Amino acid sequence: MQSQIEDARARLLLRELDCRQSMQASETIINHQQVVNFTSNDYLGLASDSCVIDRVSRELPVYGFGSGSAALLSGRSSLHEELEVRLAAFVGAESALLFSSGYMANLGAIQALTASKDMIFHDKLNHASLIDAVIASGAKHKRYPHCSIPKIPEMDKNTDGVTFLLSESVFSMDGDVADLDVLSKRVSSINGVFYIDDAHGFGVIGQGKGAGGIIEYRAKGSMIIGMVAFGKSLGSLGAAIVGPKEVINLLVQKARTFIYDTALPPVCCAAALAALDVIANKSELRNKLYANIEYFRFLAKASNVPVMNSETPIQPILIGDEFVALQVAEQLLVDGFYVKAIRFPTVPKGTARIRVTLTAAHSREHIALLCEKLKAVFER
Ligand SMILES: Cc1ncc(COP(=O)(O)O)c(C=O)c1O
Repeated sequence: MQSQIEDARARLLLRELDCRQSMQASETIINHQQVVNFTSNDYLGLASDSCVIDRVSRELPVYGFGSGSAALLSGRSSLHEELEVRLAAFVGAESALLFSSGYMANLGAIQALTASKDMIFHDKLNHASLIDAVIASGAKHKRYPHCSIPKIPEMDKNTDGVTFLLSESVFSMDGDVADLDVLSKRVSSINGVFYIDDAHGFGVIGQGKGAGGIIEYRAKGSMIIGMVAFGKSLGSLGAAIVGPKEVINLLVQKARTFIYDTALPPVCCAAALAALDVIANKSELRNKLYANIEYFRFLAKASNVPVMNSETPIQPILIGDEFVALQVAEQLLVDGFYVKAIRFPTVPKGTARIRVTLTAAHSREHIALLCEKLKAVFER
């Protein structure tokens, strides 16, 4: 074990944990240092929103904290049920089922819905939870080049089982968006199932309402199953699978990470419900987020900072070399900006990067100062 750690250290791939002494927000305290935070997926700043905190404070004395056991064993709260109904309606699906995290939702749903005779096509840069789910499923599978469209003859070969296609909507480390429209038509033309991991799309993209990548493509006739994670734009914890009623019912029978996992604390559902209200009714936050994205890209490009091609809150700056990426992150921290270097195996070898995530809670001043520091670091 020690030699593995030393090996990771020697290859500049060792991970170390920071400790935060305050709320997770655009300004925070990390390792006792006041910093501007550009690492969070809380894209709309809802983790610390007063509506969310009020609702949680009201529900906590009613429901307590822990949920006691798995949902099938002890039942679950009316907040769980309310959230499932509200989420399904918001993304235009028939039904929803809550899981304790996005990781558990992907793992449980894909394992439960696929069998060894099925074929899964999945994007080469899909999240680790999707990769693990595919491997655990035992189904045949093929990774296709990132953001490409698998060809019909290849997809149509599997005559004895069902063909699935798995993709993120917004990719977590690149910030680019899959062509969900074309993918959905391709899957529908071979009568397959399209599984969209909308962890980073929900609340951010989707018909101008923030309803995510699932709603955009649901109506096009293909069978869509979606995963919404609550730890990003909803500022909470947990996740839901949304889809047709029969699918959700089957998950209750078969998804091991639902059946054998303690249900979410009810207040996590309360937080997500309050955040959902904000997302549905306050487009100002999304407008502010997009204005921040535009402002950051304008300043970064003007400063010759190599931002990748992304129109979403995830704005990676490609560096390549692990050592340089670490040095850039270290220098930014010295300057009071918390931005992480992302390295192998989270991203492919040779593509180490700085991952800037923008939120509606950042001010223009935060962004201008970050770009000033980035310019100085890159010039050096
Ligand atoms: C694309 C994607 N899917 C799934 C997950 C897992 O979600 P959770 O953090 O709720 O387990 C993440 C988390 O980072 C993610 O980025």
